[in-house]
Amino acid sequence: MILSPSILAADFSKIEQEIKELDEYKVEWVHLDVMDGEFVPATTFTHVLVEEIRPLTKMFFDVHLMVVNPKDMIEDYVNAGADLITFHYEAVEDSLELINYIKSFNVKVGISIKPNTSVDEIVELLPYLDLVLVMSVEPGKGGQAFMLNALEKIERLSEYDLLVEVDGGVNEETGKQCLDAGADVLVAGSFVFKDKKNIKVLNNLDR
Ligand code: DX5
Ligand code: ZN
Repeated sequence: MILSPSILAADFSKIEQEIKELDEYKVEWVHLDVMDGEFVPATTFTHVLVEEIRPLTKMFFDVHLMVVNPKDMIEDYVNAGADLITFHYEAVEDSLELINYIKSFNVKVGISIKPNTSVDEIVELLPYLDLVLVMSVEPGKGGQAFMLNALEKIERLSEYDLLVEVDGGVNEETGKQCLDAGADVLVAGSFVFKDKKNIKVLNNLDR
C-alpha cells in the first residue's frame, strides 16, 4: 500500500515544515490537489507551488488536476516536477489523446472518475493508464464523508494491471475497506494532517 497525503489539509503558512514531517514519517508520495474554480468551485494552487516545494523532498509528486483545461497545464506541471499527472475523465473530450500527450513527457498518467461516473465509461482506456483515481467524495474540498459506492469500483479496477488510488474521506475505517477492496494508493488529507501519527495508523492497515 502507498499512502499519498493530500497537502490540501496542510498548514500552508508552514508548508516547508509540513513536507519535512512527511519525510520524517517516510511517506513516499504526496498528493497535490489542483483546483481551478471552474471544474470545482474552489481554487487551490498552481504549478508555482509545486516548483517551490520540489527542492524540499524526493517524495513522488502525485498531481490531481481538478481543472477544465488540463492539457494547457501539463507542461508546466512536468517542468515543476510532477511524477504522475491525473486528470478528470469528465473534464476532457478526448481522454486517449491526453493520455498519450502526458506520456510523451515521460511522466506517469492517471485518470480520475467522480462518484457518479462508472468504470464502464473508462474501461477502454485502462490499458493505456498507470493509475485510476476513484473519487470517494465529490471533488472540491477536503473533510467530506467517504461514499461507499467507491468500493465496488475499486474492486473491479483491481483486476487490471494498473494502480488503483482512492481519494476522499479516507480514515482508519474507510482506508481498511479500500485496501480490502484492492486499492493500492490511499489519499488522505484531514485524517493525516489533524495528527501525523495517523500516517502510522494507515500504514499499519497494510499488515
Ligand atoms: C477532494 C480532494 C481530496 C481531498 C481529500 O477534492 O481531491 O484529495 O483533499 O481530503 P480528505 O482526506 O480530507 O477527504
Ligand atoms: Zn485529490
